[in-house]
Amino acid sequence: MKLKTIYTLLAISTVGLMLALGKSPNVSSYVVLNMPESKMIESEEAYGQMMDVLTHQRCMNCHPNDNIPKQGDDRHAHYFGLARGKDDTGFEATNCTTCHQSENNDYSGVPGAPHWSLAPASMGWEGLTRTEIAERLLDKSTNGNRSHEELVEHMTEDELVLWAWTPGVDANGEPRELPPVSKDKFKKAVKSWFENGAVVPTK
Ligand code: HEC
Ligand code: HEC
Repeated sequence: MKLKTIYTLLAISTVGLMLALGKSPNVSSYVVLNMPESKMIESEEAYGQMMDVLTHQRCMNCHPNDNIPKQGDDRHAHYFGLARGKDDTGFEATNCTTCHQSENNDYSGVPGAPHWSLAPASMGWEGLTRTEIAERLLDKSTNGNRSHEELVEHMTEDELVLWAWTPGVDANGEPRELPPVSKDKFKKAVKSWFENGAVVPTK
């Protein structure tokens, strides 16, 4: 056989092999393949409910991608030209906790919860797709080195997370919108999604 023919055959068979294999399976599609259908549906439903909350302004306002906390149901930039300072707690003169106390102030409309501050830049979710948010959430290099157990604990117990369901009223006395999923349902969804292997749907 001529060398050229051998190269051609080699090229054809390599392409054939790649087609036959499809794209290389990643970890989550492996898990999906081995998950009974009922569990898969349960996991995707839980994922959807969890993401409905994470992408809501009550969470997103503190998880920006541009260093500027947002306010209100329309997600406008925080008044007073506030931006991330040292340690994500604001510039020294305008430390977040100068105004934000450990509870909502229903007279001034300043929301409050213990250790109020901006999520670190690596935990910015604003503008990302659900899939990208999920990947960031699970990645120990961006999520504050949290294991799955620690993520579940954070999302079901942290005071800043739970504040979203008692957000109080804004500066005009209007109640802030609640996340679209109740607190109990959200907690259940988070637990269920992680118990089922934290599979990010591919579609
Ligand atoms: C007042 C601001 C604020 C609000 C509101 C807030 N977060 Fe956060 N979030 C933070 C801060 C600050 C951290 C970093 C805390 C740490 O690492 O200890 C954080 C970290 C996290 C983390 C862990 C890190 C990661 O990226 O995986 C998760 C998960 C999270 N928040 C979920 C939520 C959810 C869900 C909501 C809404 C229901 C929410 N947060 C609302 C400030 C906020
Ligand atoms: C000078 C006072 C002041 C400082 C300092 C301050 N805030 Fe605020 N913040 C407010 C007031 C007032 C509101 C309520 C505005 C409204 O909703 O009408 C507010 C609202 C917010 C909201 C809106 C919550 C929501 O979902 O609507 C977030 C998030 C927030 N602040 C984060 C921060 C962070 C993070 C810092 C520190 C980097 C900070 N704030 C520093 C006064 C302040």
